[in-house]
Amino acid sequence: MNISGHAKLAGVMGWPISHSLSPRLHSYWLHQYDINGAYVPLPVAPDNLEHALRALSSLGFRGVNLTVPHKESALLIMDTVSDIARRIGAVNTVFVTDDGKLSGTNTDASGFIENLRLNAPKWQAKSGAAVVLGAGGAARAVVAALIDAEVPEIRVLNRTMEKAEQLAETLKGPIKIVDWANRDTALEDAALLVNTTILGMINQPQLEVSLDALPKTAVVNDLVYAPLETDLLANARHLGLHTVDGLGMLLHQAVPGFEGWFGVRPKVTTELRDVVLASV
Ligand code: ATR
Repeated sequence: MNISGHAKLAGVMGWPISHSLSPRLHSYWLHQYDINGAYVPLPVAPDNLEHALRALSSLGFRGVNLTVPHKESALLIMDTVSDIARRIGAVNTVFVTDDGKLSGTNTDASGFIENLRLNAPKWQAKSGAAVVLGAGGAARAVVAALIDAEVPEIRVLNRTMEKAEQLAETLKGPIKIVDWANRDTALEDAALLVNTTILGMINQPQLEVSLDALPKTAVVNDLVYAPLETDLLANARHLGLHTVDGLGMLLHQAVPGFEGWFGVRPKVTTELRDVVLASV
């Protein structure tokens, strides 16, 4: 630990916050780059969010990450909001500017696409349709990233179809809504499958889907990281498909925040993965 009176401060606000992996992740980088700084968990109840965010400047904080349940409500509190955060409808990274203003952005879309490109280098946005399962906050970030990458067709399937329709309405782009019941056939000719639902996570039901229709060149990315190898990824691997696990997006979405608060662009390494995995 290298914390003096000059330490740069950041943290993560959530309610509850004890499950968050972010303090371990950012503390690893602070140690690795020998930075005089600290990144702390900040338990903030929903009713106190505005108060807590407004206090950051007086407390000398350079900013925070936001997690459940604050990402959406923070949009209205920020002084400025980036285009991507507005499109996704959620803020996950806040910077306190030199004049004490709150600037909100969302790094989930860039975290998703950077992780995908690094871990599935053969995947090309133009190689074919993408299938996205789910229509929550994570799905909105994934679909925004896929639109920006110029994927020609994005098939969105969600148990509650109205949520998929809302997503399509706000994000626009080449989105095709497919009935949740047609998961198996929606995979025909697809180059990418992304699971953004909670299905397959520890203590949740399994994701029931047959991957038989996916071309052999397709990539399967599960955003679930507990367990790291979900049944979906195991099935994909057995079929010889390229798989990408959910931990990478979590690590990559943290990079811009750390860089903005602490002044160093940190690297996502295997050692970092191991450190974070040890606490999953
Ligand atoms: P996040 O912000 O992490 O995306 P979320 O907004 O709670 O989380 O979204 C969870 C996703 O998992 C949703 O797409 C949800 O589907 P609904 O919109 O129908 O709720 C999906 N999900 C959760 N439980 C599910 C289940 N048992 N079967 C199918 N989908 C499920």
